[in-house]
Amino acid sequence: MILIDGKKQSAELREELKQEVEGLKQKHNKVPGLTVILIGDLAPSQIYVRNKEKSAKQVGLKSEVIKYPDTVDEKTVLNKIEELNKDETVSGILVQLPLPKHINKQHVIETISPHKDVDGLHPMNVGNLSSGYQGSIPCTPLGCYYLLKKIEPNLTGKKAVMIGRSNLNGKAMAQLLLQEDCTVTITHSKTKDLQHECSEADVIVAAVGIPELIKGDWVKKDAIVIDVGINKTENGIVGDVNFEEVSKVAKALTPVPGGVGPMTIACLLKNTIECFKRSLIN
Ligand code: GUN
Repeated sequence: MILIDGKKQSAELREELKQEVEGLKQKHNKVPGLTVILIGDLAPSQIYVRNKEKSAKQVGLKSEVIKYPDTVDEKTVLNKIEELNKDETVSGILVQLPLPKHINKQHVIETISPHKDVDGLHPMNVGNLSSGYQGSIPCTPLGCYYLLKKIEPNLTGKKAVMIGRSNLNGKAMAQLLLQEDCTVTITHSKTKDLQHECSEADVIVAAVGIPELIKGDWVKKDAIVIDVGINKTENGIVGDVNFEEVSKVAKALTPVPGGVGPMTIACLLKNTIECFKRSLIN
C-alpha cells in the first residue's frame, strides 16, 4: 500500500512557490499579498489562520490577518472587504469559516472580488470551475487533486465516488474529477446504500466528517482513497476512513493527520500567487 505523504508533497509545492515568488519579486518589484479575516475566537479557526499566516510568510508572500470579535456587525466586515478589494497590495482575501450566526455567509462571499477569492467560493469561481474556465479552485479539493494525480496521472474512465457535497469540498472535488474524465458519483447523508456505492469505486474521496465511517469491506481492492476528514475523538484526531482496515485493501491512502491537511495550505498559497499573476495581465 502506498501511504500518500501530504507533508512531503506540501513541502515540495511550497518550495516551488517560494522560488516563484522570488522570481516575481525580481521581475515586478512586488510580491503577492494574502489577507485573512478571522471573526471570533473558535480554537480550530485560530490554529488554521495562524498556520496560513506562517506558511504565507515562509514562501515570501505579504501576509496579514485582520481579527474581529464575534460581536462585530456584518456591515463592518463587508466595508473592510470592499476596502481590501481596492487595495493593490492585496492579491487574495480569505474570510475564515464558520462565521457567527448573525453574519450572512453569502453576503460575505459575494462581496469578495472574484479576482481575489482565494477560496474559490464566489459564485463566479464556482461557475468557472464547472465550466472548465480559469479561476480559483477551493484549496482542499485542489490539494486532493494534486495528491491523486501523483498516484494516478491518468484518471480517464475511473469510477470516482465523492462522499460529501459541501461547497468547500464535495461539489468542487466532483467537478475536478469530472474534468479528469472520471465517472463521478456524489454521495451524501441521504444516499441509500453508501457501502455499495463505495465498493464499486476506483477512487474514493471522503469529506463527510464522520469518524472512521469508511470500513475495509466498503473498499474495492486497489482503490485509491483520499481522506479529507479531521474528526476529534477520544482517541485523538481521526479521518472519515478507518485507516487500519482500509490500508489492507487500498492501493494508496492518505493518513490523517499528514495527508490532505498540509496540501490545503500549500494550495491556498498557490491560489494567492495565481490571483497575483492574473492581476498583472488584467
Ligand atoms: N474553514 C475550514 N476550512 C476552510 C477553508 O478552506 N476556507 C475558509 N475560508 N474557511 C475554512
